[in-house]
This record gives sequence, C-alpha cells and structure tokens, in this order.
Amino acid sequence: MAKGSVLVLNGPNLNLLGTREPEIYGRTTLHDIEQRMETRATEAGVAISFYQSNHEGALVDAVQDARGKFDYIIFNAGAYTHYSIALRDAIASIDVPVIEIHLSNIHKREEFRHTSVLAPVCLGQICGLGAFSYMAALEAIIDRLSSK
Ligand code: DQA
Repeated sequence: MAKGSVLVLNGPNLNLLGTREPEIYGRTTLHDIEQRMETRATEAGVAISFYQSNHEGALVDAVQDARGKFDYIIFNAGAYTHYSIALRDAIASIDVPVIEIHLSNIHKREEFRHTSVLAPVCLGQICGLGAFSYMAALEAIIDRLSSK
C-alpha cells in the first residue's frame, strides 16, 4: 500500500530542459528528473505521477483533477508562475497542498520573475537548487506523509 501520492506538474517550456538555456537550467532533462523522483518515491512507498503541458488551461484542468486523487502536488509552473491568476485560483480552489518549485533562483533574476502569484496559495516555495529543487520538494512530502 502506498503511503501517499504525489502529482508532479510542469508548465511551459520545461519539456525542453537539458537543451533550454543550460547555463540557467542545467543539462538534466525532464525525463532524468522524473526518473530520479520515481526511484526515490518508490523507495519511500509513495505513488508518483507526472504531467507536463505548455497550455495554461490544461494545467488548470490537471490541478482541478488532482482533487481526491493526490495528497500533494509539486508544481513548476514556469513563466505562468509570474502572472497566471487562473492557476492561482485553481490552486486556491482545491484542498491538495501545492509546493511551488523552480530550478533557478527567481528572486535573483529579472525583476518580472521576482513575483510569484502562486506562492501565497501554496504550502511553500523551493527555488534555486537546480534539478534538486524537485527532489527537495519530494523529500518534504515524504517526511510529511511519514509523520501523518
Ligand atoms: C522557472 C523560472 C521561470 O521564471 C521561467 O519562466 C521558467 C522556469 C524555473 O524552473 O527556474 O520557465 O520556473
């Protein structure tokens, strides 16, 4: 029996990780990240699913559909982080806690990236640790699930 379940959501352009601006985002592909997460989740007895979309509405649907299916969401919303009120409202509408994550440290980049419209409705935010940002969020969830 899985101890809990996690949905890992990725927004626009994150399908290009590995080749996209590697000086900022590194050379690890999204597939590599997902494999690492899957290995760690399996070891911890946590069920994990992955979804990536370049489309805001598809991400809103995925957030809504997580109700009753997942205990937590790890979400890298990419550029939508900075302006999607639709995604913020979707997160605020569900009772599944969301951890916002970013590979880069959005607070030390261009000013338009300093604001996250999602962070106020998320459980927490992790950024700047590269691909490890995803693993750090997963560790936090494993910890919370095992102390439930
Ligand atoms: C990102 C940061 C965003 O500002 C950017 O638009 C992305 C990636 C990150 O993981 O560092 O697409 O979310």
